[in-house]
Amino acid sequence: MAAALLGTTGAAGLTIPAAAQPTTHPVSTGANAAAAPGDGLALTPPMGFNNWNSTHCRAEFNEAMVKDIADIFVTKGLKEAGYQYVNLDDCWALPQRDADGKLVPDPERFPNGIKAVADYVHSKGLKFDIYTSAGTKTCNSAGFPGALGHERSDAQQFADWGVDYLKYDNCNNQGVDAKQRYLAMRDALQATGRPIVYSICEWGQNKPWEWAADVGQLWRTTGDISDSWGSMLSIAKKNLPLTPYAGPGHWNDPDMLEVGNGGMTPTEYRSHFSLWSIMAAPLLIGTDLRKATPETYEILGNREVIAVDQDGLGKQGQVLSSGGGGWVIAKELAGGDRAVALFNETDRPRHIATTAAALGLPEADGYQLRDLWEHRSYNTAGDVAATVPAHGTALFRVSADRRWAAYPPAVELGTDAAALAEAGTTAQVATVVTDLGRTPARQVSVRLTGPDGWRVEATSPTRATTLPTGRKLTTRWQVTAPAGTPAGAYELKVSADYRSPRGTRATAQLPAPVHVVVAPPSGTSYASDLPWLSAVNGWGPVEKDTSVGENAAGDGHPITIGGTVHAKGLGVHAPSEVTYYTGGRCTSFTAQVGVDDEEDAAGTVAFEVWADGEKVASTGTLTNADPATTVTAALGGATTVRLVTTDAGDDVTSDHGDWAEAAFSC
Ligand code: GLA
Repeated sequence: MAAALLGTTGAAGLTIPAAAQPTTHPVSTGANAAAAPGDGLALTPPMGFNNWNSTHCRAEFNEAMVKDIADIFVTKGLKEAGYQYVNLDDCWALPQRDADGKLVPDPERFPNGIKAVADYVHSKGLKFDIYTSAGTKTCNSAGFPGALGHERSDAQQFADWGVDYLKYDNCNNQGVDAKQRYLAMRDALQATGRPIVYSICEWGQNKPWEWAADVGQLWRTTGDISDSWGSMLSIAKKNLPLTPYAGPGHWNDPDMLEVGNGGMTPTEYRSHFSLWSIMAAPLLIGTDLRKATPETYEILGNREVIAVDQDGLGKQGQVLSSGGGGWVIAKELAGGDRAVALFNETDRPRHIATTAAALGLPEADGYQLRDLWEHRSYNTAGDVAATVPAHGTALFRVSADRRWAAYPPAVELGTDAAALAEAGTTAQVATVVTDLGRTPARQVSVRLTGPDGWRVEATSPTRATTLPTGRKLTTRWQVTAPAGTPAGAYELKVSADYRSPRGTRATAQLPAPVHVVVAPPSGTSYASDLPWLSAVNGWGPVEKDTSVGENAAGDGHPITIGGTVHAKGLGVHAPSEVTYYTGGRCTSFTAQVGVDDEEDAAGTVAFEVWADGEKVASTGTLTNADPATTVTAALGGATTVRLVTTDAGDDVTSDHGDWAEAAFSC
């Protein structure tokens, strides 16, 4: 059990070291940010709905869906929250133009044509969008017509239908220069005389942020998002550095929202929505709102978060720091407040902190700290900090106004990150409550609760009469999972109750993950017969006793390396990491490793064994021409062992790695 404390704030409070104080304003103004938008369109990032992420080309994308979404925008308050555009993506047209070269709506999906749908959307006080490509065909393999060479006619047809927004894609562009293609449509849209928001979708391939501020109101900066944590994260990381290029009427577009589509946890979806908002990204809902849960509505409808995105100053948030996967992203707001996202990319709770001074706020006795997900206000003496759950985001609005004194002090709750506990044995856990406020926290009491049946006992005080600015209450606990608790991830909850000097009650809460682990039995055990602590895999799940199949669990084949079939082992796809708990009880690990025979010559991998933080065995690059290589590693009483498979420095194509006969001696 790791006893090191994470989530403490260090010397929180009164003094901010001179080195931390910026000499210039930290939220920079880019070359384009000051330019007044000529056309007055999209002065804040567009908000609306687009069917693509939820339906792709499926038949459920049709007139009924579009009308239902427009209705829901009104009835569920999304229109009032700022969502305005209802967008048709690809697949609305027939593959062939008519005899006059005009686009023809698909009569199955849109039996009353496009104008009827646009009229319906307009009748709800909303705006209507359409899609085509700056190529000969759109992106779908069915081959719907694109506008290359038809710009004037297609733009006029869109204007005649009452289109207010065009998403203009990049497929089948015949190698014609991007600027030329996107300018041709800009000019065609302008020639219609109808104000039409112009969304450039060339996936960031030609750095549109450098040339498109006068062409369109937004430009995609990346390839397509998908409904997974990895996709969302990699897109955010590409879009974050483009801060200087965003401003009123010209926005970076990291693609549409996946919130509600089921591939991420609610915590991850809140991070997705927080990041898009602090990046002043377009907020285009990408889930079928007819099936959305109350939690999805709560995320998409969070007006305090939307206000960060839609702030009139129109600045994209700037990364102030990102060390170790803890990100501080700050956005200057109209009127001088700052929004700040403390984003935890890692899979453990993480302390992330900045200060009012680093955010560029003027020196003051205290600041108001508004938690935009909790909808509560606190006071802080200057520290803006939180221990953020794995993959989570704390999103605050920080103001240097005098009202701070009306609110209770902010406290930070911290705990050991991702503790390991064997069922039936007692593990040590520590919690820390830190007062970040200008005012003291009074009558502080901390609680740690476990799942039903767990024993949790404090071995040091759980109460403090008063915690002045920067002071901590550290409590040590003994936690016992009942004998027989199955291995896996469990959650403890830390909470602290306290009062402000005026007597206002406040509560802080933090989930604290604990892994119940089982030490391997004495003797030799195959890895595939032991529960792993965690498994990360390039494609599909890690497989036990077969090769990796790339999609669903259980879709692999018998492990085969150099013509030899192995009954036992792990099948992985690079990049992969499978971690086992060995609890200091195992002496060695062995395996026969290689690329599975089912793959072609593109498969190149390398294998590594890590005992706690130390690499204890590795291979060179192996291909499917190599026979199995024996890996032997001395484990020296490590607590955990990590089996790592890399792509050997090229890409991950065909990288099916096998850990045949993988076994621990304990
Ligand atoms: C491209 C775009 C997507 C979507 C599809 C439709 O991939 O980037 O956003 O519009 O085409 O085919």
